[in-house]
Amino acid sequence: MPSFPHTRLRRLRQTDWSRRLVQETNFSVNDLIWPLFVHDLDTNIPISSLPSQFRWSITSLCEQAKRAESLGIPAIALFPATPVEKKTPDGEEAYNPHNLVCRAMEAIRSCTNNLGIIADVALDPYTTHGQDGLLRDGVVVNDQTLEALCKQAINQARAGCHVIAPSDMMDGRIAAIREALDDEGFQDVSIMAYSAKYASAFYGPFRDAVGSKGSLGQGDKRTYQMNPANQLEALHEVELDIEEGADMVMVKPGMPYLDILHQVKQHFAKPTFVYQVSGEYAMLKAAATNGWLDWDKCIAESLIAFKRAGADGILTYAALEMAQKLQG
Ligand code: PBG
Repeated sequence: MPSFPHTRLRRLRQTDWSRRLVQETNFSVNDLIWPLFVHDLDTNIPISSLPSQFRWSITSLCEQAKRAESLGIPAIALFPATPVEKKTPDGEEAYNPHNLVCRAMEAIRSCTNNLGIIADVALDPYTTHGQDGLLRDGVVVNDQTLEALCKQAINQARAGCHVIAPSDMMDGRIAAIREALDDEGFQDVSIMAYSAKYASAFYGPFRDAVGSKGSLGQGDKRTYQMNPANQLEALHEVELDIEEGADMVMVKPGMPYLDILHQVKQHFAKPTFVYQVSGEYAMLKAAATNGWLDWDKCIAESLIAFKRAGADGILTYAALEMAQKLQG
């Protein structure tokens, strides 16, 4: 009797050892970047729309950074929740050398020795209107914003960050920031460009966390962040950022944009990152809290999906938890 079918893909799926043996993609602690929020208070405040995440005091932030380092997480990304009274229309606090994020970075530099510090460049934590750039007659102006971003980048490099991560989506910012950093002697500070950053509704909980939601009000960021309907434009954005000197590129958000991530990695073969943003994390947490999804399995599946699509690393609020699990 002829055996049918001839090809049996299930043969290698029969046992755990053989499934592991033929697994195409893996993730490890080396793939994780943990975004952390810091504020200027002595207590830690939980962020209700981001379960298990806090606005940390600088002292606690250092403890968290040390935990991350000891678990082998390569890098953290810092986001300041600026006190409202420090916000101004032009966000000058962004280049105050003693601002919250600079003090936080100095503190982390002094308590860790093998942990990458990624500093965000965009004006939204500092502006009263919550936009990432300077507002003139109701318009977010590009070229004047570049000057402010360069000052912000230099300020953060002086405070000791290893990576500058422009998340503002202004045109020409990578070239401008690279030149400004080099002029100040920071040629070894690298740039992780938020290259394909979409005008997404999945950033909601992040805006609660840094307190930019109230400032933004009914405003939106569609004149600079990308239209979720576009794919080719993302490749154009990435191409420009690489030409302008980005060391690493990023796609953001993650899960709804896996096609973009895949194409970026395929086309450019550069160090490529993805941001599993606040809304993605909140969604999974909410379903898990209700008992509708298995958190451990779903978060692991989402991370392997990013690796499969081509990510070299993932910014995720689940980084610490995953690192603990990976350690067993
Ligand atoms: C601000 C910034 C945002 C995020 C990172 N940097 C929000 C925004 O663009 O409004 C979102 C991260 C997240 O949702 O987890 N420049």
